[in-house]
Amino acid sequence: MKDEDLKNAFEKLKIKNLKMEHIWKIGEGAWHNVYRIERNFEEDLVLRIRKKNAYGQLQAYKEIDLITEYESSKVYYHQANQCSFNICPPVFDYFQEESLAFTVESFMGEGKKLQCLSHYEAFTIGEKLGEFFQVMHRKNPDIQGFGKIIWNGKLLEGKVQQEAHYIWQNDNDFYLSILHSLTSTDLTFNREKVVEKILKLIENRRENQQKISLVNQDVTPENIIFNVDNVSLIDPFPSLDFDLKYAGYFVFCYKFLLPAYSNAARYRNHAYNQNSNILNRIADGFICGYISDNVNLNKCLLDEYILWILLEAHEHFETLEESVLDPKTLQQMGDKDMIRNRLTLCLNELENLSLDNSFTLFNYNERT
Ligand SMILES: Nc1ncnc2c1ncn2[C@@H]1O[C@H](COP(=O)(O)OP(=O)(O)OP(=O)(O)O)[C@@H](O)[C@H]1O
Ligand SMILES: [Mg+2]
Repeated sequence: MKDEDLKNAFEKLKIKNLKMEHIWKIGEGAWHNVYRIERNFEEDLVLRIRKKNAYGQLQAYKEIDLITEYESSKVYYHQANQCSFNICPPVFDYFQEESLAFTVESFMGEGKKLQCLSHYEAFTIGEKLGEFFQVMHRKNPDIQGFGKIIWNGKLLEGKVQQEAHYIWQNDNDFYLSILHSLTSTDLTFNREKVVEKILKLIENRRENQQKISLVNQDVTPENIIFNVDNVSLIDPFPSLDFDLKYAGYFVFCYKFLLPAYSNAARYRNHAYNQNSNILNRIADGFICGYISDNVNLNKCLLDEYILWILLEAHEHFETLEESVLDPKTLQQMGDKDMIRNRLTLCLNELENLSLDNSFTLFNYNERT
């Protein structure tokens, strides 16, 4: 391929006289091959050329999906940069047609590798991210509605258009329904303890409605450029959802999800389980940055963390019920043995967390 796609992309971009030695591949995710374009008198750019194959399957061209994805990134970057100067690429544009789709955006630096971060740096980066997400979540999104964001032909909107109070009650009901379905299985775990904890948690949560915000559902380290002085976020997966729920999601990702998924093919080469201390420090910093002086928020974050574990346990249980796993699930979650083991991990975590009321705040004296 690639030269042909690159050449076509440059033609569309009207970038002339570009020598191939000024372009090199810097990365690859599941969906894009990523190239850096070095320029003499302007900032470097990144070209993300969409792959035709992802997760071992040819991906059909769906115009609305591509516009939705790239327009959502554009809106997210715009709002994020209003909250924290150039935390996301200030330049972002895209092109899409059946034969070729790509984004062009500012190069945000290389950043340090996760395993090269000291605990102090990890904490500091987490803290900055926590402060950023706090401001980001407080802002009223320009997109109306709730849930999955879709392009309606003219603009982006949330898939659900209902009153916020109603959506909030549904959100709480949903957790109760999955709790019910998990307790009706023959899985081994301390039902009494878990049920008591979650019922109490939801009763209290119902009375404290959260704010609908523009959230990012993909905060994995591959999408964060770890510069201690200026951390950057790239490749977001935006949605409209509740603020504390998604602050809890960040903590859940770094403290539980990433280490737990490191045996799945999609994540294996990142060795997240070997770097779980660093991930943990990022999460600790995030909690401090996000809650600032409001210790009540610490309890809320733990509650949301518990609900994400509950959801994860349920998803694992449902996946195990399927007779055959599709290639994407196999890549992302692993085979049935891995899924079974991870489900046990989730259930243990649920049981253990039933005793705690908030995260233990990291001791600043340890920041060396
Ligand atoms: N704007 C940018 N500036 C610097 N590096 C970037 C930029 N965009 C992408 N990269 C590098 O390329 C890698 C892969 O990019 P990206 O996450 O956009 O790919 P993707 O296929 O969309 O990812 P995913 O698998 O998460 O969907 C990143 O981890 C990062 O190292
Ligand atoms: Mg990515």
